[in-house]
Amino acid sequence: MTDTLPAQARIEELRREINQHNHNYHVLDAPSIPDAEYDRLFRELQALEAAHPEWVSADSPTQRVGAQALSAFGEVQHEVPMLSLGNGFSDEDLSDFDRRVSEGLNLPAGDLFSSATVQYSCEPKLDGLAVSLLYQDGVLVRGATRGDGSTGEDITSNVRTVRNIPLKLSGSGWPSVLEVRGEVYMPKAGFDALNERQLEQGGKTFANPRNAAAGSLRQLDPKITAQRPLEFCCYGLGLVQGGELAATHVAVLEQLKGWGMPISRELKLANGISECMAYYRDIGARRMQLAYDIDGVVFKVNNLEDQQQLGFRARTPHWALAQKFPAQEELTELLDVEFQVGRTGAVTPVARLKPVQVAGVTVSNATLHNMDEVARLGLMIGDTVIIRRAGDVIPQVMQVLLERRPADARAVHIPEQCPVCGSAVERTQLIKRSKGKATTSEGSVYRCVGRLSCQAQLKQAIIHYASRRALDIEGLGDKIVEQLVDEGLVRSPADLYSLQYDQVVGLEGFADLSTRNLLAAIAASKQPALARFIYALGIPDVGEETAKLLARALGSLSRIQQALPEVLTWLPDVGSEVAHEISHFFADAHNQEVIKALLERGVQLQEEGELHAEFAACASFAEFIDRLGIAHIAATGAQKLVDKYPSLEAVLELAQDWLSLSVFKGLNEKAKQSLREFFANPDNVARAQAIEAQLREFGMHWHSEQRVVSGLPLMGQTWVLTGTLEQMSRDQAKDKLESLGAKVAGSVSSKTTCVVAGPGAGSKLAKASQLGVAVMDEEQFLAALAGYGLN
Ligand code: IVH
Repeated sequence: MTDTLPAQARIEELRREINQHNHNYHVLDAPSIPDAEYDRLFRELQALEAAHPEWVSADSPTQRVGAQALSAFGEVQHEVPMLSLGNGFSDEDLSDFDRRVSEGLNLPAGDLFSSATVQYSCEPKLDGLAVSLLYQDGVLVRGATRGDGSTGEDITSNVRTVRNIPLKLSGSGWPSVLEVRGEVYMPKAGFDALNERQLEQGGKTFANPRNAAAGSLRQLDPKITAQRPLEFCCYGLGLVQGGELAATHVAVLEQLKGWGMPISRELKLANGISECMAYYRDIGARRMQLAYDIDGVVFKVNNLEDQQQLGFRARTPHWALAQKFPAQEELTELLDVEFQVGRTGAVTPVARLKPVQVAGVTVSNATLHNMDEVARLGLMIGDTVIIRRAGDVIPQVMQVLLERRPADARAVHIPEQCPVCGSAVERTQLIKRSKGKATTSEGSVYRCVGRLSCQAQLKQAIIHYASRRALDIEGLGDKIVEQLVDEGLVRSPADLYSLQYDQVVGLEGFADLSTRNLLAAIAASKQPALARFIYALGIPDVGEETAKLLARALGSLSRIQQALPEVLTWLPDVGSEVAHEISHFFADAHNQEVIKALLERGVQLQEEGELHAEFAACASFAEFIDRLGIAHIAATGAQKLVDKYPSLEAVLELAQDWLSLSVFKGLNEKAKQSLREFFANPDNVARAQAIEAQLREFGMHWHSEQRVVSGLPLMGQTWVLTGTLEQMSRDQAKDKLESLGAKVAGSVSSKTTCVVAGPGAGSKLAKASQLGVAVMDEEQFLAALAGYGLN
């Protein structure tokens, strides 16, 4: 197509096509092509415009961003003032409004049972910013904020970056001057993503989507606005000259929609006030599920002549009403910050608030998550704060009002001692590896080191141990655990198994039968599956899935206890933090005692004992070297190194052999020096050997090494070939693999040992990486074959 059409015509065609896709996507909510195809069209247009800058026009879809940053916004006079709305809060307010409208239109009073009803349009009241968009002959020429209603700010470059605002109207018949009004807002998902990004980049976060939308639209640099997930929704008109418009509000909005303007999908027409009330209740019930924040519903008299007849008072029209929802945000005072101790010892700050009604519920506490959150909010005791409670969500402290901070406000400090047991409180450390370096940094969690000597941790540990997905001890609920711990009858989960009838029967709420039932339930829990037991131990960050994985991969408690953290990270989905939590847990003397006591008191684990496939797959030895964290040796360096030196012994030998290392071409000088220094340290040598030995003990082997298993080296393995091989045909590759004892299969599954992927490899390669199956390119494959004396 590109070849046959002259460039200018193709540019026009691309613009039309892209605008149509934008319209389908943003206005009709019906994407018509895949994103990749859209991107391709867009890039083609960009390329053509770059080659022909003389044909670039401001309304081209490529020209949304591009304007220079401003030093200040210009002023815009609104020829038709931008009004605000009268508010209603109750059914009564709504009936009053309807009565006033009926009177104004000389209709008989329209009560719920009357037939003389006014038609109202119903729209959500979006919580964003009012914006005016001026179209001249169908082209967007100006965007402005509402300002004080008469004078706003010129934000043309910024509104141009909002994806669903058409730069050019589609269709035909639009008035030559058309001022569209509506709300720019930020959908909730975009808001969350933006705040996350801001946090990562150390920028300031926004308290709510409205603030985020306002902050984004008031950027002097439109490039920043362009990165913000803003959307527009049209709800009315300002200045209009020339052209015919429909006679009702809803019909006008439909007309605008036809010209490419996004309007609310929730727009409805209501006959009379009872239908308005039904609309308000329905959307109120769905409020949380909507993709954007709304703070009420706007009802407008649908007939435009009637609107005119009703007119305005000061700055609010008589023909519209904003029926508000109960506020989700309120102001209150932070009376104190207390600290709660969780099951794993995490010490969490909790806000004690002056009780306040938020969306119909009295709120007096709110979680603050952790001390980083306290710092992010800049919170001090005595502050006035904004509390938000949305639906069933736990109340949250959103923002501090600094201007209201009292002189005697106090800083929030994490206690040095656990508020429950008095043990030390320590900050967790995070270990991060990147670019061959391991660095530790402060975590956001503080922990009481008291473990089970801390009553708070002990109670929750036992509740967790007995919970349904752990050892499932029926009848061992919170209240009983409280009593058992408070009475000193249980000091660790192991004590459950020594409880005597006489000790229990005297507790509150217990009689003969309930005591015997509880003791029987405890006794029945004595043969747990390994995965349940691991989960029941309550290792920080080890949920049910990780517990299952550990049990399946390692098969026995003793292997899990001994596993080195570096070895655990070779399991899918186990990151270095979780791996360290696990090994830290089992290295702890107190935890060892508890486990020993559990086993001594008759807990018999149902262990499979066998090693499963998790570690048995062949792995990349280069990755092993990479993960050792040797400075200046990352993935590529490691690969070059192991291509020539495919075992740990060989690498160790090389590191100590000055001559061989200096002639080795695969690494630069810095990397060589660093390799030499790393292995000059006997601790590093010992650690690398220990990790490697344990990986082998758990069944792992490197795909670069020779293995001799019962005769043929690849016996029992399944390989898959995909993509094009350049140095041999697939049949040849297959023959070679089979001669080594491997089976060659046509599709990838979790049983696949290794995939050899040449250029053009597609779904099989994707499947392999999804399943964590080892992959080699042809080069590596040839090297592996050479290792078996084949070439
Ligand atoms: S109509 C004369 N419709 O609410 C009528 N306003 O308090 C002018 N708003 O500044 C506004 N959603 O920012 C209208 N569907 C909607 C709205 C809406 C949100 C905002 C708008 C306006 C404020 C009025």
